[in-house]
Amino acid sequence: MPDNRVAIHGQWTSRWAFILAATGSAVGLGNIWKFPYIAGENGGSAFVLIYLFFIALIGIPVLMGEVLIGRRGHLSPAASVAAVAREAGASKLWSGIGWLGLSAGFLVLSFYAVIAGWALSYVFVSAKGSFSGASPEAIGNIFTALLASPWQLIFWQSMIVGITVLIVAKGVQKGLEKTVTLLMPGLFLLLLLMVGYAMTTGSFMQAVEFLFTPDFSKLTGAGILEALGHACFTLSLASGVMIMYGAYLPEGVSIARTSIAVAFIDTLVALLAGLAIFPIVFANGIAAGEGPGLIFVSLPIAFGQMPFGTFIGTLFFIMLVFAAFTTSISLIEAVVALLIEKRGTSRPKAAFIAGFAVWFAGLGTVMSLGAWEKITFNSLTGLDLKFVLFNQNFFDATAFIATNLMLPLGAFLLAVFCAWVMRDRDTAQELGMSETSLVYISWHWTMRIVAPILIVIVLLHAVGIDVLPLIGLSS
Ligand code: PHE
Repeated sequence: MPDNRVAIHGQWTSRWAFILAATGSAVGLGNIWKFPYIAGENGGSAFVLIYLFFIALIGIPVLMGEVLIGRRGHLSPAASVAAVAREAGASKLWSGIGWLGLSAGFLVLSFYAVIAGWALSYVFVSAKGSFSGASPEAIGNIFTALLASPWQLIFWQSMIVGITVLIVAKGVQKGLEKTVTLLMPGLFLLLLLMVGYAMTTGSFMQAVEFLFTPDFSKLTGAGILEALGHACFTLSLASGVMIMYGAYLPEGVSIARTSIAVAFIDTLVALLAGLAIFPIVFANGIAAGEGPGLIFVSLPIAFGQMPFGTFIGTLFFIMLVFAAFTTSISLIEAVVALLIEKRGTSRPKAAFIAGFAVWFAGLGTVMSLGAWEKITFNSLTGLDLKFVLFNQNFFDATAFIATNLMLPLGAFLLAVFCAWVMRDRDTAQELGMSETSLVYISWHWTMRIVAPILIVIVLLHAVGIDVLPLIGLSS
């Protein structure tokens, strides 16, 4: 029965619309840019295996928790958590989880839009044929020149934020849903094409082996924690997104089944991205552990040498832009919904205000890629504080605070809230399960014990408290 909270924002037209939108949020730079390079840095297969394990063990249960809070509250993240807390007779302070997520999502989007801008600019760089036959130095210089040019960065970042605003201004069904129904199948098609092409490079099996034959000697404790952190990041957990998208989910749709579908597709995309990228990388004699430059430098070098490289390269970056757009719209939606709820702002106006704020915050990232690169808290204050944050520039510090501190803290609180604060009968009812069913009990205990403990270890590791030796791992 649609109550007036549903009426404020609208709903997805179907279960598939939700799956596409949530997968659209989950699949992004994290899958195509970050996953391959961190897998590369951590020796490949064993890392991949641990990552899959964490998606199943922690990712899916926390994702279900968020979606269920959203659908029960039907409002923007903080208001949804507040409504659910009230129902459980718990303190309103729990709505802090929503605020934390919303702020983390905002910060993530501020730098995400800048990086998505790199991808957008590379569509044109590639289409012009700039990679074709160019030397590795020349291709490296294209990237360095882009990062050193604030005006170019601002131009591309503005395009990303601008289009995001235009989409979100149109509303849940006509904006978000329409966009994901168009872009997600497009992304899949492009990805399959890339994998098909990678199969012809002659190094496909080498990539398969790299990704799927586990070699545990390459895995470090820090790598394990990175896998867990990335499992949360790639599913867009604790950023308010999944609560918000859950709020638009019609009653009667199974939260467990849809969450599993979302996690499954997201993982599939990450693995396919690996299978598209590594054969090309190996076939051209490039190392797998190249770090963040993997797809902006190494891959273009390969595109420059390959048959149809200009065409394939352009399609690759178009695919990356699709992936980034469906994530950007999800990250801004919660802020927009909040403005609509609290201030009664019209959707287009709310989208514009949120977009402007995100764009403005992103200027900090833009500047830290150039002029402010060396400016850190310590350098500004003349202090010598040891914590890593104080030695990072604005961009690195924002990314660190949002992804390494706020998101894990949010995921921890979400697990605790769902499993210790909400009443079992409410969570079971929302999940459409019986409290005594095996699935429910597994979910419940994972959220009660396993997820909080593991996430706290990740969090402590991020702030430099090394718990790994205590559990018998080297860091
Ligand atoms: N899941 C997104 C990606 O993989 C990134 C993201 C992280 C989005 C956190 C929202 C919140 O690209």
